[in-house]
Amino acid sequence: MRILSGIQPSGTMHLGNYLGAVRQWVAAQNPEAFFCVVDLHALTLEIEPSQLRTQTWDTLASLLAAGLDPAQCTLFIQSQVPFHTQMSWLLECVASYGELTRMTQFKEKSGRQEGYRVGLLTYPVLMAGDILLYSAQQVPVGDDQRQHLELTRDIAERFNNRYGEVFTIPVGVQPPAAARVMDLQEPSRKMSKSLSSPLGSIFLLDEPSAIEKKIKKAVTDTDGEVRYDWETKPGLSNLLEIFACITGETPAAVAERYERYGDLKSDLAAAVIAELTPVRERYDVLRADPAQLASIAAQGADKASQVAGERYRLAASAMGLI
Ligand code: TYM
Repeated sequence: MRILSGIQPSGTMHLGNYLGAVRQWVAAQNPEAFFCVVDLHALTLEIEPSQLRTQTWDTLASLLAAGLDPAQCTLFIQSQVPFHTQMSWLLECVASYGELTRMTQFKEKSGRQEGYRVGLLTYPVLMAGDILLYSAQQVPVGDDQRQHLELTRDIAERFNNRYGEVFTIPVGVQPPAAARVMDLQEPSRKMSKSLSSPLGSIFLLDEPSAIEKKIKKAVTDTDGEVRYDWETKPGLSNLLEIFACITGETPAAVAERYERYGDLKSDLAAAVIAELTPVRERYDVLRADPAQLASIAAQGADKASQVAGERYRLAASAMGLI
């Protein structure tokens, strides 16, 4: 199965990234799967160059620690494969301004700052290129990327109608639970790398004591009944989704096992700690060996370039470029 997905190195990976996306990647990895650290995407918002560099390596090490294996899949850094930016230009000449300004993430992020970058508007086109370059059939992502996936499909179909069948039309795949992990303190807002409240996000590299504290302090409600119900119990339902994703149950089935919030929270904390501790331990070893990380990235970029180059040349030629 041809698969592609990516993650921005814009901060420390959190439980939403891990459960919504990366855990699915690990389960789905195969020789036809491509995963990338999308450093070009991180340039759409303000970021210190030194911070971007460090976080790119941090993110690569986190993906390896989470279980991606370069012997089983291709793992690379987006900017090391220049076909991504080249493809993005071709697709900018297929996408329309109107459809880009309608993107929810663009509206949210551009509304928060004056003089936002053009890249913030064109970002979903770069993402479409990431996917289409690899003829991905499936794109495992969290729920917040659904609209970008739809746009990718629209762009690919338009291209194929206009210039001939060059692109595979991809399908987005979400996990059955935890496709949208919410902030533990503000369950109306998704868990995010940048905007969360201090206790709102669990990070991949959090110590067990921090994980426990954040889950114990997670906002719930005062009615005391353990029930899966996003309408009236968003905080609790979020915890049930996280739990269900880790154990492979449904959130409702988890709810049935508990009568008290406190017991649910203790067991959930133990489950999250058991899931993340080996990841954190592997991370420390991997991050301490920058030469090995660089070599993995170089090999990944090599493999990715071969596949991406072929699709880029077909697209460019279909459009009339010599
Ligand atoms: P990014 O870096 O914001 O997030 C990486 C992945 O994590 C998922 N995710 C979540 N899932 C559940 N709950 C949450 N709170 C949560 N927050 C984030 C995201 O859905 C994503 O799957 N544009 C993308 C990166 C990208 C990409 C691509 C993805 C660039 N090119 C091509 C797929 C294919 C992004 O900003 O993800």
